[in-house]
Amino acid sequence: MAESLIQVILDSTIFVLPLWFGNAAPTILGGGAPIDGGRYWRDGKRVLGDGKTIRGFWAGTLVGGIIGGFIAGLIAWLSSFLPTPIFLNDNLILRLVYQDLLETGILYNFLSAFNLRGLFSNTVFLGFFTGGLMAFGGLIGDLIGSFIKRRSGIERGHPFIFLDQLGFLVLGMLLVYPLIPWSIEYLIVQVPITFIVHIAANLFGYFTGIQEDPL
Ligand code: CTP
Ligand code: MG
Repeated sequence: MAESLIQVILDSTIFVLPLWFGNAAPTILGGGAPIDGGRYWRDGKRVLGDGKTIRGFWAGTLVGGIIGGFIAGLIAWLSSFLPTPIFLNDNLILRLVYQDLLETGILYNFLSAFNLRGLFSNTVFLGFFTGGLMAFGGLIGDLIGSFIKRRSGIERGHPFIFLDQLGFLVLGMLLVYPLIPWSIEYLIVQVPITFIVHIAANLFGYFTGIQEDPL
């Protein structure tokens, strides 16, 4: 049955929360050695630039995992005393909690081969894994974005509208697709929502002094 628009907005937003937090975390937790090691591309510009650091990348992945684990645990806990979860009944993360979806996925088969299927009974682990994987994908998307920006002559920290706000969303969602085959409505709805939230979060970070660039 088709979900209502409100339901899709709610579900998809809960779904991408690890991605939002994982992408924002490097602003606070990043710094140190750049991923490109300071190297230049053949066009004489930096491969990625100083805005993409190793620490930021892994900190963002970890934060995505923590958010994912927290959400999965919270939903499981809530549904343990709600007779019928009111809004989250058909939620992807809830389905993930109940394993009916993941048990047919490639990860399940992979873990089965190593006798690690028991991990699937651990809700928080599932959320941690998928949240971390999603954030990891998002941060890869962020690196691809910086690579494209440098090749287009855009300096580190300067905006590239749409690429900055949506590259991480698309890559992050794509990477978890084999585990959680989200419906296309999720992406359609999250393109405008994530776009607006990303800009709002950046402006907030700028005016509170957390980051130097407004976008
Ligand atoms: N950051 C980091 N490591 C990452 C991603 C981000 O340390 N892998 C930190 C950097 O301090 C960066 C800040 O988070 O300046 C904001 O991230 P972002 O806007 O993605 O980077 P920009 O500095 O704008 O660089 P670019 O133009 O390459 O996107
Ligand atoms: Mg930026």
